[in-house]
Amino acid sequence: MLEYLCNYEVFVNTFLTYFLGDFLSGLGRLLFVLFLFFVQDAAHAENKKPYVLVTGGAGYIGSQTCKALAAKGYIPVTFDSLQSGTEDAVKWGPLVIGDLMDPEALDRAFHAYPPVGVIHFAALTSVGTSVMDPSKFYWNNVVGSLTLLEAVRKHRIPVFIFSSTAAAYGIPLEGMVNEFSPLQPINPYGNTKLMVEKMLSDFERAYGIRYVCFRYFNAAGADMEGELGPNFQSATHLIPMIIQVAAKKRPYLEIYGTDFDTPDGTGVRDYIHVADLARAHVLGLEYLLDGNPSVVLNLGSGHGYSVKEVVAAVQKVTSRTIPLVYTARRTGDPAAVVADSSRAKEILGWEPCCSDLESMIRSCWQWHQAKYRE
Ligand SMILES: NC(=O)c1ccc[n+]([C@@H]2O[C@H](COP(=O)([O-])OP(=O)(O)OC[C@H]3O[C@@H](n4cnc5c(N)ncnc54)[C@H](O)[C@@H]3O)[C@@H](O)[C@H]2O)c1
Repeated sequence: MLEYLCNYEVFVNTFLTYFLGDFLSGLGRLLFVLFLFFVQDAAHAENKKPYVLVTGGAGYIGSQTCKALAAKGYIPVTFDSLQSGTEDAVKWGPLVIGDLMDPEALDRAFHAYPPVGVIHFAALTSVGTSVMDPSKFYWNNVVGSLTLLEAVRKHRIPVFIFSSTAAAYGIPLEGMVNEFSPLQPINPYGNTKLMVEKMLSDFERAYGIRYVCFRYFNAAGADMEGELGPNFQSATHLIPMIIQVAAKKRPYLEIYGTDFDTPDGTGVRDYIHVADLARAHVLGLEYLLDGNPSVVLNLGSGHGYSVKEVVAAVQKVTSRTIPLVYTARRTGDPAAVVADSSRAKEILGWEPCCSDLESMIRSCWQWHQAKYRE
């Protein structure tokens, strides 16, 4: 500030000396400089937008949320190691490259961009890899989240939003799950998320950090304006994989199990558009900034689609045939998992607006064709 004031003073003094000569006295000149300085400072303060630290902001859901935050007048500060996210997805605010498990890198980010809140997306997400290499998941997702929460506590950030998952419910007793359904994850990925949920509740009790914990179902689709979308280089989700088959980047789609207790025998899941998820995070942040209490909320569309229905919809949108290979069920795959998101509607006023199957597939296909077609 001093440096700024000095430069400013030199400039104005020079101006006054050249153009006004001795007309103003030394004291008058000083008062005039101070007046200009405070006018400029007040204007600067008015333009200052609040920072929100977004871990994993270079990833699929994080980058879409950064776009939604910017549209609402926040400056999203992405903190990301870029281990699966990409730099070109960071378009609406600064990028700090760093790892969750590095407390000094976190400190630097908090000092450079003091945030009003933190939204925590950064995690390893592949269920299959978590079974093969759980250690990596516990370090990254649990130790990483604990390191982040320590930084949040140290820098006295009052509010926190966490990306949890429907995998926390494991195999539900009923197809429709609400936030009070039993929490029984069946893989290390789900376990790591549930551990962080427990950490959040303990941290709130002890240190007063209020939080929203969102349990998402299956994120799908791409940005409606074509600016963002899933990373097809590491596709593990159903819709991107079917699109890769449609684009002849995979030879066929494997369908695991055709004997589930569902109308066509294939597994039924709830898909939610990534832009609907992003909007929920902005609402969640504002809910917390308004002083409301912590809450856990499901985010899903409330509609279940079977694997065969999704395949048929991709065939319709792309006008391509999808070769299928039927194999046995995978251990632990439930027949149907669909979200009851009525609590998110009641508490945040959130409702999905673009989560119909065709919009999700069309936006994803357009993103693929624009970005990944060779
Ligand atoms: N995609 C889904 O369907 C889905 C469903 C339920 C929950 N979630 C949760 O939502 C969050 C975001 O998922 P996504 O699909 O956008 O995943 P993503 O892989 O696209 O994004 C994760 C981001 O986190 C970053 N990251 C990972 N570990 C990090 C670390 N230690 N330090 C710094 N950055 C790190 C990655 O580089 C990446 O940019 C995750 O927490 C995931 O568990 C996703």
